[in-house]
Amino acid sequence: MKVLVVGGGGREHAIVRALARSPQSPELLCAPGNPGIAAEARLLPIAVTDVEGLVAAAQAEAVDLVVVGPEAPLVAGLVDALQAVGVAAFGPSAAAARLEASKQHAKEVMAAAGVPTGGWTSVDTVADGMAAITSYPAVLKYDGLAAGKGVVDAEDEATARATLVDFLEDRRFGDGRVVVEEFLAGEELSLLALCDGVRAIPLAPAQDYKRIFDGDAGPNTGGMGSYSPVVGIDAAEAQRIATLVHQPIVDELARRGTPFHGVLYAGLMLTQEGPKVIEYNARFGDPETQAVLPRLRSDLLELMQRASRPGGLDGAQLEWADAWAVTLVLAGAGYPERSAAGDVIAGLEHPALDAVQVTHAGTALREDGALVTAGGRVLNVTSLGDGPASAREAAYAAADHITFDGRQLRTDIAQRAVERQQG
Ligand code: AMP
Ligand code: GLY
Repeated sequence: MKVLVVGGGGREHAIVRALARSPQSPELLCAPGNPGIAAEARLLPIAVTDVEGLVAAAQAEAVDLVVVGPEAPLVAGLVDALQAVGVAAFGPSAAAARLEASKQHAKEVMAAAGVPTGGWTSVDTVADGMAAITSYPAVLKYDGLAAGKGVVDAEDEATARATLVDFLEDRRFGDGRVVVEEFLAGEELSLLALCDGVRAIPLAPAQDYKRIFDGDAGPNTGGMGSYSPVVGIDAAEAQRIATLVHQPIVDELARRGTPFHGVLYAGLMLTQEGPKVIEYNARFGDPETQAVLPRLRSDLLELMQRASRPGGLDGAQLEWADAWAVTLVLAGAGYPERSAAGDVIAGLEHPALDAVQVTHAGTALREDGALVTAGGRVLNVTSLGDGPASAREAAYAAADHITFDGRQLRTDIAQRAVERQQG
């Protein structure tokens, strides 16, 4: 059994590790991977958006399953191209992945499927955007892929106008429209579900920390930390939410002839009126995956194989370790505005790190063999514990030993879970 994982971040490192635990003992390849993944899979130097190169490699290597991590290759049609040559793939088609690629499309599918979400208007001029805002804060979302940075909560008119100019006139992310959305108050939840085109089976719930600074201050990032499970969201509640926000989308896309296979990620706000969707992603979350997959006891490889076949998950039961996982993101200097590169990373050999799982995201090997930073989010530290407090303490104790210039680390990851559980 040969599996090719596409991607090179902390999420893909966690996927590779979970696949390595499979009783099927797969041979693992990763394209392009990173220096951390290189210890666990054979790397192929192919960019995630090089669809032709990836298809050719999957054929040449006679790969049994391709697992696609990031959104860009999904939206570029990698899964379609693999299927066209008879290679099985875990992930949605380009048509199904539009749920993530276009916020406006996602809103339209949600409306057709009857999924609860905030009110919205789509605009293509600054004037229309300003006219569409009825109260502050207003949420402005660039209608296209923006690596988690295309969403701004505008507190006032000046910020709203500046953001609309940035997105629509200066075209910071491209020539997409902007969705003006109702601000939803509440706590966020990431609930991911495995989908086989017919049904959605929820994974363990997680919470993600989107803002760069403690106390949820500063700009949005790709995610600065996560933990799983979530106090108050037991298996029955996760199933109830999946019935409300995942299954109707799977049904709607099947009806449209573009069935959803892979991971459907719902970013939710738990409002006083109940859960409302703030976004869908067509893939595993990063860093949620680093906290969720270490707790999975079932064979991830078998589940992915089944999800790639229509209705293949029929009767699937997921088993989870009765433990808590906390993931910290160590980000580079200047993130999220810019990506640092070339800062030497020290401390990874410290014995304190033996007790945790370190996954690599933005790292690179310098010519002299030194490990250096090579991106916004550099490393993740995940710790498992009997409860959120012990998992959290162990993660921070280990992360303290990893140093590099400009290192950014939130100090309040999973603090909420600790307080909830105590209180
Ligand atoms: P998104 O990329 O759509 O998930 O948005 C990124 C982040 O912006 C979310 O995780 C929330 O923290 C915040 N956000 C997005 N939409 C809303 C909304 N309608 N109300 C409040 N916060 C939001
Ligand atoms: N952590 C948020 C995401 O993966 O989109």
